[in-house]
Amino acid sequence: MSNALLDRLQVGHALTTTGPMGTFHYNPLFHGDELVFIAGGSGVVPAMSMIRDIVDSGSERRFRLIYGSRDAGDVIFAEELAAVADAHPNITVEVVLDRLITSEIIGPLDGRMAYICGPQQMYPFALAQLQELGHPRRRVRFEANGPPADPTAQESWPSGVAPDSVVTVSVGSRSFETTAGRPLLDALEDNGFTPEVGCRSGECSLCRVRVVSGQVHSADEAKPRMSDATAGYVHSCVAYPMADVTLAL
Ligand code: FES
Repeated sequence: MSNALLDRLQVGHALTTTGPMGTFHYNPLFHGDELVFIAGGSGVVPAMSMIRDIVDSGSERRFRLIYGSRDAGDVIFAEELAAVADAHPNITVEVVLDRLITSEIIGPLDGRMAYICGPQQMYPFALAQLQELGHPRRRVRFEANGPPADPTAQESWPSGVAPDSVVTVSVGSRSFETTAGRPLLDALEDNGFTPEVGCRSGECSLCRVRVVSGQVHSADEAKPRMSDATAGYVHSCVAYPMADVTLAL
């Protein structure tokens, strides 16, 4: 969003926004009192909100922040983080400079809720590190920022399907062409359709569409409800047409 604001937005442009939504927040019912947050760059901002909430409420919740930055000058909230960690033994902050956040740095997790927020390239790497530590995926929340940069890099991408292969998408009486590597939501919007959208990252399910016929691949980011998956719905923001498809919006 920052790049779009700085590079493309002009005075007079109209924007439509939604309210905050999603699952990337502390949930006292399900997340427990032992939390780990892996942040990269400006991804530390939601961690700071969670830390301030602990401080302001006097909670004894334990919070461990592992914060990767390119160098010391890039560490956002450096003074506040250091002061909070000094004053609150239940809050620990580890700033990692100029090296990867590895499983050794993450340390034992013991089923804690782990949050990940940072540049998009960080997600597959951090998720792999957590998996290496045997941490269950359901104990991970990550703040996603759109569809995967390269869906074909995911192991789940069907072999033999080139992202630039042209397919036809039919909706009702209309049809249009797109490519296998373009998310269905983007292709629908390119062609004048306006499905409801929220996160654009596979989480919220607002953009779901029903696949009437044809093969659609869902990226790893997709979090369909079981009932949706059973009824043939996909999250169009992270779904890709592998061949000609017919959709119902
Ligand atoms: S817009 Fe949220 S899942 Fe697609």
